[in-house]
Parts: sequence; structure tokens; C-alpha cells
Amino acid sequence: MKNFTYCNPTRLVFGRGAIARLARLIPEGRRIMITFGGGSVQRNGVYDQVAAALAGREWVEFWGIGPNPTVETVREAVALGREHGVDFLLAVGGGSVIDATKLIAAALCGDVDPWEIVLAGRAGATVSMGTVLTIAATGSEMNNGAVISREETREKRAFHGAYPVFSVLDPEVTRSLPRCQIACGLADTFVHVLEQYLTGAGQSRLMDRWAEGILHSVREVAPAVLGEERDYDALADYMLAATLALNDMIAMGVEQDWATHMIGHELTALCGLTHGATLAIVACGTMRVLRGQKRAKLLQYGERIWGIAEGGDEERIDRTIEATEAFFRSLGLSTRLAEEGIGEETIAEVECRFDAEGVRYGEAANVDGAMARRILEACQ
Ligand code: NZQ
Ligand code: ZN
Repeated sequence: MKNFTYCNPTRLVFGRGAIARLARLIPEGRRIMITFGGGSVQRNGVYDQVAAALAGREWVEFWGIGPNPTVETVREAVALGREHGVDFLLAVGGGSVIDATKLIAAALCGDVDPWEIVLAGRAGATVSMGTVLTIAATGSEMNNGAVISREETREKRAFHGAYPVFSVLDPEVTRSLPRCQIACGLADTFVHVLEQYLTGAGQSRLMDRWAEGILHSVREVAPAVLGEERDYDALADYMLAATLALNDMIAMGVEQDWATHMIGHELTALCGLTHGATLAIVACGTMRVLRGQKRAKLLQYGERIWGIAEGGDEERIDRTIEATEAFFRSLGLSTRLAEEGIGEETIAEVECRFDAEGVRYGEAANVDGAMARRILEACQ
């Protein structure tokens, strides 16, 4: 196990009716700005719950943070926040609203353009923020990562901001999610675990078992949360699994990959594909191309998650990748580029972008432009 430092400062407030506890979580006297997406919270009652919980307090509202939030929208929010002297942010929404709010929190503390903060990769001082999560997927509610797009150049980039000081998670609010968003959330959670687990074998028994616990839980709850009757306990496990998959808990002392995500971000930037949908396509391509390097862990993953223990190593790995692809298909997601109308032009652009930046992603730092091309070709 490698040396590491662990500190996750986000207070998690979880369960039915938890939104009512908001007032106690935000210190008195703060000048609050609440950030929202496109309006789902007005239709499903979350807005009313937040407003009731904060009765007697004052706040300003910023609406219209879209999926794959853009720096252009963030600039508008920063201007509103400055105008009102805001010193506390409450993000009410999914990963997109929370990520955008992490950038607003950083931009309010200085006078540089928000895109400069994204390019720097790490924010300095930030305004405190809390969240009310409405979709389980990204883990943004309990981590310091954020991914921001720039419309002008069709780029999508990650940076590190501050952790939310608290996040309120009521699984009931996920009932109004469309099936496709839940499918993408499940795929995102599953692949977050793979990015931290499917690297070299034998680094930490404990991290392996926690990671495998999340993978099993996602598999088990998937049919229940995708069905018509959404059982509360299944929704609760779905929501908590997504948080634990990317809150640093399974990353202690182990290598991480993230090549699938970085390629996926390019597919979103270039083709507009939803984040989780990109991962359902790219993850198996990564396994196919890097099966030699990930061999021992692929065998462990196949045996412990999919029960594939018989046969020669190559056959077991083939069956493991097939089982993973079948799982994504069972969620109703595409697993091949052609199904989404993505072809050579996009592959060439991803290769070109990786080459231009000189990046080398993955646990072995070997996913450059040429390797990204091979991975995408393996998804055709
Ligand atoms: O905007 P509204 O109207 O609220 O609708 C949203 C949006 O259209 C809707 N929605 C959310 N909660 C709902 C609901 N609809 C009905 N009922 C509810 N309870 O769902 C749509 C998608 O929301 P979004 O926030 O975009 O989804 P998600 O949480 O999957 O976030 C995706 C973004 O997070 C980034 C992704 O790249 C993408 O930009 N990620 C952030 C990460 C992080 N910060 O750690 C890690 C991830 O790997 C990911 O990259
Ligand atoms: Zn993700």
C-alpha cells in the first residue's frame, strides 16, 4: 500500500426528510445564494422543501445550470453573487449544479476568470458551500472534484475545488428521476469504482473488498431502482453507493486509472453524450486494450463480481468483459460507439487533443493519443 493522507470534511446528512435540517447546517447571518439546474426541483417539490427549511432567512437564487455545466453560465452566477455580497453557496441539484457551484465558490474569492481556475487544476480560497443532492451519480456531493465545460471551444476539463461543508441526501428525491438518468448514474458509480479498483492486483485487501462491496451493491439494486416501484431502501443504497464510490474512501493507498473518464469527457465535449453513457461505452474498450496490464485484477474482478472462476485465463477475461458489457446493456445503455453515431472523425479528434496536450493517463501513464485511439477503436 502506498502512503496517503485522508481527510474528508463533508458532513453527510442522510435520509427521509433530511432537507428540513438545512437551517441548522447554514450558519446564521450568512448571505446565501442558492444555485439550481433547469427546474426539476420545482416539479418534484424539492424547491418547496428547501424554501420551507430556510423560512425566515434571506437568499438570492441563480437558475439555469445545465447538464455538463459551462464556464459561461458560471460567469453569470459569479456576477450575481458579487452583486449581493454572497458568502455562502447552497447547490440544489445533481453533479452539474454542484460542480458549477464549486467553481462559483472559487471565483467569488478572487478576481481571475473562472476558466483560469479550471486550467490551473486547483482552486485557492473558496466561499463555503453546502449541497442538497437530487441525483445519485457523481459523488460530487462528498468530494472536491468538478468538471466544467467551455462552450466556445467544446472543451470539458476537471479541476479540484473545496469539499462541500455538508451535503443533504434524501433518497426520496430521486423518485422523480427519469429511467435514463438513473441508468447513467448507476453506470457512473460502477465505473468510478473500476477506475480505482481495476489497476494492479495485491495493493490492499481492504480497498479491494470495499470496492467489490460497492460493485455488488450497484448490481443488486439496479433492477429495483430502474423499475416502476422504487423501493425506498433500494433508492437509499443506490444513493449511498454513488457517494461512497467517489469520496476518497476506496482510493486510500492504491493506484488509480481514470483514462476511461478522460476519454469519456471528450465524447461529451465533442458529441454531447451524457457522462454515464460515455462510460458504459468506453469502460469495456479500456479493459479490452489494457487486458495484459490489468490481467491479475481482471481475473479477480471476474471471479469475485461475476463468479467467473473456471477456464483458462484468457477465456475468463473475455467472459468478464462480456459480463460487464451485458450489465451496462441491462441498464438500457449503449455499449458501442456506432449505436450513438460516433465514428472515425471523433476518434481522430480525441487522439489529436490528447497528443496536443501531451497527456498520459491511467495507472501506468500510458494512455496517450495513440492508446486512446486503440481504446475507442475497441468500442466500435
Ligand atoms: O437541471 P434539472 O432540471 O434539475 O434536471 C436535471 C438534469 O437535466 C435532472 N435531474 C436531477 N435531479 C433530478 C432530475 N430530474 C428529475 N428528478 C430529479 N430528482 O437530471 C439531469 C442530469 O443532471 P446532472 O446534474 O447533469 O447529472 P449528474 O449528477 O450525473 O452530473 C453530471 C456532471 O457531473 C460531472 C459529469 O462530467 C457531468 O458534467 N462529474 C462530476 C464528478 C465530480 N464532481 O466528482 C465526477 C464524475 O465522474 C463526473 O465527471
Ligand atoms: Zn464519472
